Amino acid sequence: MKKTVRDIDLKGKKVLVRCDFNVPMDEDKNITDTTRIIAAIPTIKYLLENDCAIILCSHLGRPKGEFKPEFSLKPVAKELSKILGKEVVMAEDVIGEDAKTKAANLKSGELMLLENVRFHKEETDNDEAFAKELASMAEVYVNDAFGAAHRAHASTAGVAKFLPAVSGFLIEKELECLGDAINNPERPFVAILGGAKVSDKIGVIDSLLEKVDTLLIGGGMAYTFFKAQGYNVGNSICELDKLDLAKAAMEKAKEKGVKLILPVDTKIGKEFKPDTESKTVAWTEIPDDWEGFDIGEKTIEIFSEEIKKAKTVIWNGPVGLFEFPQFSVGTNAIARVLATIDAKTIIGGGDSAAAVKKAGLEDKMTHISTGGGASLEFLEGKKLPGIECLLDK
Ligand code: 3PG
Repeated sequence: MKKTVRDIDLKGKKVLVRCDFNVPMDEDKNITDTTRIIAAIPTIKYLLENDCAIILCSHLGRPKGEFKPEFSLKPVAKELSKILGKEVVMAEDVIGEDAKTKAANLKSGELMLLENVRFHKEETDNDEAFAKELASMAEVYVNDAFGAAHRAHASTAGVAKFLPAVSGFLIEKELECLGDAINNPERPFVAILGGAKVSDKIGVIDSLLEKVDTLLIGGGMAYTFFKAQGYNVGNSICELDKLDLAKAAMEKAKEKGVKLILPVDTKIGKEFKPDTESKTVAWTEIPDDWEGFDIGEKTIEIFSEEIKKAKTVIWNGPVGLFEFPQFSVGTNAIARVLATIDAKTIIGGGDSAAAVKKAGLEDKMTHISTGGGASLEFLEGKKLPGIECLLDK
């Protein structure tokens, strides 16, 4: 167990808080999904109540170590200030003169945001001198960036060497919700895995096969499983070098007594475009020149029946190309069933979280993780550097 903001004396102190403000924006720099900003509010409010002076920091996108105005965190400072009804001072740099002067002058009850930490290559290099510079502005370090906790970077891990380091409420909640589901699930425990590639998910498949009663596999990676059984997948996405992994997963499921269920039908299209000609076929009958983009109606029924029996469900990865409306039917159907069942429903972040939000069903889920890669690595049972670096209770 790691210490949280509750376990340390913060009163009146200057606190460096790492958030994951890596939020999507449109061309005019309007934030299109504020979930990650809202998720940081409980920790910020707690620190304000404790008279802290708060120095926030985050990355945004991947500017590759260079200052690029399109990756500025200014829109985040504006949004945060709107949500809190309080000024958020924006620094023009990260560890430069502007940031340092503003940090030095910051009084208790005030907050500021440093510029994008990834404007320095030293951030992703986890450079010690850079981490020390960041730390020099504060007396305590709080990590609340669950979405970046799988990165061993200077602001997510390195800085903990120089300051007493604890977690914020978001990391605490994510660990509790994901950890509980994985380690102490009420059964039946069903996992739904989708997404394009087996290679992205093999770690999580392997680890979930140790824990779940039923594993439903949809999305692009289902075609690698079809191919592994010797069937034609047409032009569907398929990793020919991962057929052995798919076979091994099916074997392991048998050994462990896990019901591994693959789609029985699939909606296929002629071309990779939203209005392409489409039809539904049995998964054993995908013609050449066609490409699978979604699960079919029969599969939706079978998956739904399994989900309805569950007491705990983890969902990671859409089961179809949900960005194209005609191939979003399967993913939306999964989201709807999850919204109606009396079970703990945990949505791994990234695309499945986006799909649930798009369907307007986020309030119906037990927990939607703010981490994409981070929640995946957590489910794989990997240690997350952004958590490991924190003080033990
Ligand atoms: C995310 O969006 O998953 C996190 O913010 C991490 O971003 P990254 O993959 O660029 O490290």
